[in-house]
Amino acid sequence: MSVQSAGTRSLTTTSLREMKRREEKIAAITAYDYLFARLVDEAGADVVLVGDSLAQVVLGYDSTLPVTLDDMIHHACAVRRGIKRALLVVDLPFLTYQVSREEAIRNAGRVLKETGAAAVKLEGGSDEMAETVRALVRVGIPVMGHLGFTPQSVNTMGGSRVQGREQGGGERLLAEAKALEEAGAFSVVLELVPGPVAESVTAALEIPTIGIGAGVGCDGQVLVLHDMLGLNDGFRPRFLRRYAEMAATTREAVGEYVRTVRAGEYPAPEHTFE
Ligand code: KIV
Repeated sequence: MSVQSAGTRSLTTTSLREMKRREEKIAAITAYDYLFARLVDEAGADVVLVGDSLAQVVLGYDSTLPVTLDDMIHHACAVRRGIKRALLVVDLPFLTYQVSREEAIRNAGRVLKETGAAAVKLEGGSDEMAETVRALVRVGIPVMGHLGFTPQSVNTMGGSRVQGREQGGGERLLAEAKALEEAGAFSVVLELVPGPVAESVTAALEIPTIGIGAGVGCDGQVLVLHDMLGLNDGFRPRFLRRYAEMAATTREAVGEYVRTVRAGEYPAPEHTFE
């Protein structure tokens, strides 16, 4: 097997807990291929997530639902080859862990065995989901939870919207986060959650919270790489900060390439072998 052994990785699930204890912010980011994984690892990301956002930003689907376990494993293997330091977490896609605990263990186990990832992430905080987390942790599979807006439930949540605003919503989110922690999750993503709710969940947990659209009070942040690089340039939610405008840069560069090829300016003599 070509994957790196766990012993050569420098960050572990316990490193994240220690970072929370030391009040050091955790920087997480998604990646889906070898080259970007190498770049984000070299740039110092603490956690690299092969998110099921793969479905949208790489495979062109309009939700995360169609992506398969084989798709996730294929991309996670490429990402693993690019990472030296960061903790690699892989999303379990829709219907690979909800049907039964046995299926969840088999599918999450495949992810760890075939990709060399350190952990899986799954969505939801129901009592059944907490029991699934407990079952996975019991067989040695570390789990990151995901609460608030959970994209695999986009059809029952009525679209991509902020969660926990309704009467009792904050208390429900807190109870779900506590249940995931008690079941053994090592961290939890809070997506599209009001800032004060995310802050009180963060204060109540010993495990770190990783926010996306959840304000400043989380222990860390995660963004989809293609969104923060401005590659996915039609996507402009309020929480997103763009650190580059790579869609525009790519169009300009490729447009210039097309122009120079058509004009006979490229290749020039210096690009030509004697
Ligand atoms: O799939 C994904 O990229 C995610 C992050 C947005 C947290 O789950």
